[in-house]
Amino acid sequence: MNTMNLEMGKLAEEITERIRKFLPAGGEYQNTLDEAMAYSVLNGGKRIRPALILLTYRALGGPAEEETTLVDPFLAAIEMIHSYSLVHDDLPAMDNDRFRRGKLTTHAKYGHAMGVLAGDGLLNAAYEAALSAEETEQTRGRVIPALRVLAEKAGCLGMVGGQSVDVEKTGQPMTAKELDYVYRLKTGALLQAAMQVGAILAGADQETVEKMGEAALKVGLAFQIQDDILDIASTTEVLGKPVGSDEKNHKTTYVTLNGMRASKEAVENLSGEALSILSDYPGGKRGEPLAELVSALVGRTV
Ligand code: IPE
Ligand code: IPE
Ligand code: MG
Ligand code: MG
Ligand code: MG
Repeated sequence: MNTMNLEMGKLAEEITERIRKFLPAGGEYQNTLDEAMAYSVLNGGKRIRPALILLTYRALGGPAEEETTLVDPFLAAIEMIHSYSLVHDDLPAMDNDRFRRGKLTTHAKYGHAMGVLAGDGLLNAAYEAALSAEETEQTRGRVIPALRVLAEKAGCLGMVGGQSVDVEKTGQPMTAKELDYVYRLKTGALLQAAMQVGAILAGADQETVEKMGEAALKVGLAFQIQDDILDIASTTEVLGKPVGSDEKNHKTTYVTLNGMRASKEAVENLSGEALSILSDYPGGKRGEPLAELVSALVGRTV
């Protein structure tokens, strides 16, 4: 593991600690739901989306003293939304996978119904978490715009919409244009939400928020192509989720359409384009961790 990965590993652990307190618990007869929700979130994800919120916020000069009250609720919210999307993605009605983050998937451990409900619970808990964000004199007017972006990008014209086309097209050929649509929505949209939420909470102007969305979309496309590459080229032990899931489900992916070499090139190129957008917002030292995270995603092995 290089130092970069070590740094990212530390950040992922810190984020996990920050989001833990937002998980709901304590309903009288619903221990299983509480447990299934916690299991789905606190199980070793890379925490890329909250990391993008936090590092974008810092890169754009968001005040450090507001991180706990203003930013942490959004770190929790986006990771809960992402985790719910994975729980549902793994269900038998969708990709039908039994391993995730090195453990049994939520439905494989708690049953199908609890898998559906844990996902539903996490989605609602995400908005409760985000709504707990506190504004001060200095940060007034940021929470609702950030929430709006999060809700849009997670929803029907974002992740959910992308997943619906992914599911409908399963087993069928897809054109490059259709695949691009699916990747933009199912994966790109939440990464866009992450960087745009970070920018909005930092108080960035509209143009900067748009630019962060552009960079994030490129990161998102590269991220999904790399996910497709790893689905073929990695191992279940390393990935913590089954390799060969796409082939099993007869999915059209960037790799099946364009081949392995072109896919690796696309990851490099898209990441380079994202970094070039970010280089217009250097932010000196405070901008480096964001650029480092984006660079690290190109060669990621998990
Ligand atoms: C997996 O996302 C789903 C995709 C959008 C490719 P991650 O690779 O970020 O999964 P975790 O959160 O680290 O498990
Ligand atoms: C992305 O696609 C899933 C979501 C947007 C939830 P995949 O189906 O390829 O993700 P993995 O490989 O199961 O993590
Ligand atoms: Mg899927
Ligand atoms: Mg899947
Ligand atoms: Mg995949």
